Amino acid sequence: MKLISKPRPLAGQTVLITGASSGMGRALAQRLSSHGCPVAILDHNTEGLEKTAASLSGPVLTRTIDVRDRAALDDFAGAVGEWAPAPLGAVFNNAGVFLAAPFGEQSAADHDWLMDINLLGVVNGTRAFLPLLTAQGSGALVNTSSMYGLAAMEYHTAYCASKYAVRGFTDALRHELAGTGVRAVNVHPGYVSTAIVDNGRLQDPFGRSLAEVADEFRAAAPTTPERAAELIHRGVDAGKARVLVGPDARIFDVVTRLTPSHYNTVLGRLERLMELRGRRRG
Ligand SMILES: NC(=O)c1ccc[n+]([C@@H]2O[C@H](COP(=O)([O-])OP(=O)(O)OC[C@H]3O[C@@H](n4cnc5c(N)ncnc54)[C@H](O)[C@@H]3O)[C@@H](O)[C@H]2O)c1
Repeated sequence: MKLISKPRPLAGQTVLITGASSGMGRALAQRLSSHGCPVAILDHNTEGLEKTAASLSGPVLTRTIDVRDRAALDDFAGAVGEWAPAPLGAVFNNAGVFLAAPFGEQSAADHDWLMDINLLGVVNGTRAFLPLLTAQGSGALVNTSSMYGLAAMEYHTAYCASKYAVRGFTDALRHELAGTGVRAVNVHPGYVSTAIVDNGRLQDPFGRSLAEVADEFRAAAPTTPERAAELIHRGVDAGKARVLVGPDARIFDVVTRLTPSHYNTVLGRLERLMELRGRRRG
């Protein structure tokens, strides 16, 4: 019988997090730092990154980088390798952006902007930091997909394409890395109350402004960034290949498996039912 050993817990190991100036990236940095992890963080938003760094009590290395910039990521990988006070436990390719628009009204520039960050940013981060993990023969590459990488939704063509692609990329890498000691993990968050919509781009088919959609999104999101960070941390420690974050992600996962062709109708009905219940309670 082949025994599968549990991975080494992240506590005390160095971690690398992209998109750490806000939301789940910041919450992951704070949680893992409080568990004794030296934290290397990057983001294109310097001010937010510095705020995250100031909120950590343990060792931290920061660098302002746009994940579309391959050379800058490669350079930072060298710096992280030299700085890391402990083995590298995980690389979190978390940075991402949001875009919603009917396909016909979406500019090619907006589509490319999202794909370059959400998909190529993850590929660039993997290319830069994976060699640090493979050289050690241990650690986890943790790429953030979405529940929109499990089920595709209208008006989210680019976002879903990027998150399905991250899922495929990460799954393929997991198979390729078998036997190396390095694991590739997909994270599928449901709605998490972060600034993702505020920082995104929108042409709403119902005429709402970005601020209105962002407020509605945050009010409806069942999971806080702190809870998301806890679930991701626990999932990686448990050796999971994919981490579902939040009750909505779990529902998406079940419904897409039960009805791969009609999940959109079922999920729409469930959503209306929950809205109705909410109104009755309210
Ligand atoms: N919030 C949700 O409901 C939700 C659901 C599913 C998946 N996700 C994914 O989770 C990840 C984290 O998002 P979040 O919800 O914490 O949003 P957020 O906007 O709070 O955080 C995203 C971070 O990525 C950074 N970023 C954006 N573009 C960048 C670039 N080009 N280079 C470097 N950094 C960049 C932002 O500055 C920010 O710090 C994203 O990949 C997102 O797509 C979020």
